[in-house]
Amino acid sequence: MQGEQYTMDPMSESSTPRTIRLYNERPQALSAPAAAFEAATALVPNGAVEDRLHRPLRDLRISVTDRCNFRCSYCMPKEVFDKDYAYLPHASLLSFEEITRIASQFVAHGVEKIRLTGGEPLLRKNLELLIAQLAALRTPQGKPLDLTLTTNGSLLARKAHALKAAGLQRVTVSLDGLDDATFKKMNDVDFPVADVLEGIRAAQEAGLGPIKVNMVVKRGTNDAEILPMARHFKNTGVVLRFIEYMDVGATNGWRMDDVMPSADVIQRIASELPLIALEAAAPGETAQRWGYADHQGKHDPSAGEIGVISSVTQAFCKDCNRARLSTEGQLYVCLFANQGYDLRSLLRSGSSDAELASVIGHIWTDRNDRYSELRAALPHDAASTAPGARRVEMSYIGG
Ligand code: GTP
Ligand code: 5AD
Ligand code: SF4
Ligand code: SF4
Repeated sequence: MQGEQYTMDPMSESSTPRTIRLYNERPQALSAPAAAFEAATALVPNGAVEDRLHRPLRDLRISVTDRCNFRCSYCMPKEVFDKDYAYLPHASLLSFEEITRIASQFVAHGVEKIRLTGGEPLLRKNLELLIAQLAALRTPQGKPLDLTLTTNGSLLARKAHALKAAGLQRVTVSLDGLDDATFKKMNDVDFPVADVLEGIRAAQEAGLGPIKVNMVVKRGTNDAEILPMARHFKNTGVVLRFIEYMDVGATNGWRMDDVMPSADVIQRIASELPLIALEAAAPGETAQRWGYADHQGKHDPSAGEIGVISSVTQAFCKDCNRARLSTEGQLYVCLFANQGYDLRSLLRSGSSDAELASVIGHIWTDRNDRYSELRAALPHDAASTAPGARRVEMSYIGG
C-alpha cells in the first residue's frame, strides 16, 4: 500500500492534479549545520555535550534494518507493510564500518549505551561482526559501553550464543502476552509464544542478562495478559516492563482510547501481587521501577522487579538523553521527529572524523525536542490528531 496516491479535487481547473501519498512518506533529510565546518565554530567533543534543555547525550539507538518478520499492529500494520512495501535497498543501508565510525563520534560526545534495533535487528546478516566492532569502543574514561539489542525473540534461540561471544552484553525481548491467540493477534504472523520463551531461555543461558521483556499494552486487545505475564516472570530474574501504546509513526491508527495508563497496570498487578515503588537506577531512564513486597510488606529483591513506561500519561522528555540513527544514516533527536539529519552523505563525501563529531555536537546542542510532553498538554480528543502526523515509522528510526 505504500506510495498509494490520493488525487485531490479531480474537477479542479489545474491541469496537474494534486496527489498526496497516504502512508509512510520518507521525509527529505536535513543537511548538517554549516557552522559545524567553520574553524571558529567547530565543536570538539569533550564527552559532555548538552542540548538546549541541558540534557546530555548518553544513549544511541541504531536501527540496522527496516525489515521485520512480525507485523505488530501498533508498529508495522499488515495493510501498509504488505508485499509491495518498498523497503530500503541494500546500498542505502549504512555498512558496519560506517555505523561504527559514526558511533565512535557519539561516544566521544558522551554516549555510554548503544542499543541495536530495527525492524528486527537479528534479520541483518552477520550482525555479530557489527557487535564485535561496537564492543571494542571505549568511553573517554576508558570504559566499555552498555551494548544491548531489542529483538522480537524469533531468532534468539538460534543466535544467543553467537551474540554473546561477539560482545553483546544483554538483550531486551518484546513479548505482548502468554496466551497464543492474543500474541498471534498482536504479531499478526501467527508466531507462537513458545518460540519467544525459548529465545528468552537461550539468552539467559548465554549470559545475556539482565534480560528485559517489553510488553506493549493495548486496552481491550492484550490487557488481560498483564497479570499472567507478571506471574510468569516474577522470581525469574527477567525484568518485565509494560509500555503504554504510543502514537508513534503515522500508520498504526493510534487512538487515546486504546492506551492503558500505567497507573491502571500497576493497580491491576498490585491487587494480586503487592508492589513497592523503587528509585530510578539511572538518570533519564524510560521506566519507573517497582519491586515486589514480601509477606511483611517489605521489598523482596529476590522476587525481581517490573517497570512501566508511561510515555503517554507521564512523558519523560525532561531527562531524555537518547539519539537515534536510522538504517540509512539519518540522525533523529526525537522519536517523534519528522525529519532527520543526513550523516551518511557526510561519510560518503569524505568528511573527517573531526567534522563528523562537530556536526553531531552542533545538532545535539541545538536540540530542544520534547514531543511527548507537548502532546500530553493537548486535550484528550485532540491527542489522536496530534502535530507531526507525517512522523517517521518506528521500524525505520529504531524503537
Ligand atoms: P534499558 O536501557 O534496558 O532500560 O532500555 P530503554 O528502556 O532505554 O529502551 P527500550 O528500547 O527497552 O525502551 C522501551 C520502550 O520505551 C520503547 O520500545 C519505546 O516504546 C519507549 N521509548 C524508549 N525510548 C523512548 C523515547 O525516547 N521516547 C518515548 N516517547 N518513548 C521511548
Ligand atoms: N507504542 C509503544 N511501543 C512501541 N514499539 C513499537 N511500536 C510501539 C508503539 N506504537 C516498541 C515496543 C516493541 C519495540 C520494538 O518497539 O516496545 O517492543
Ligand atoms: Fe517488528 Fe518489533 Fe515492530 Fe513488532 S514491534 S513489527 S516485532 S519491529
Ligand atoms: Fe525524548 Fe522525544 Fe521521547 Fe520526549 S518524545 S522522551 S524528547 S524521544
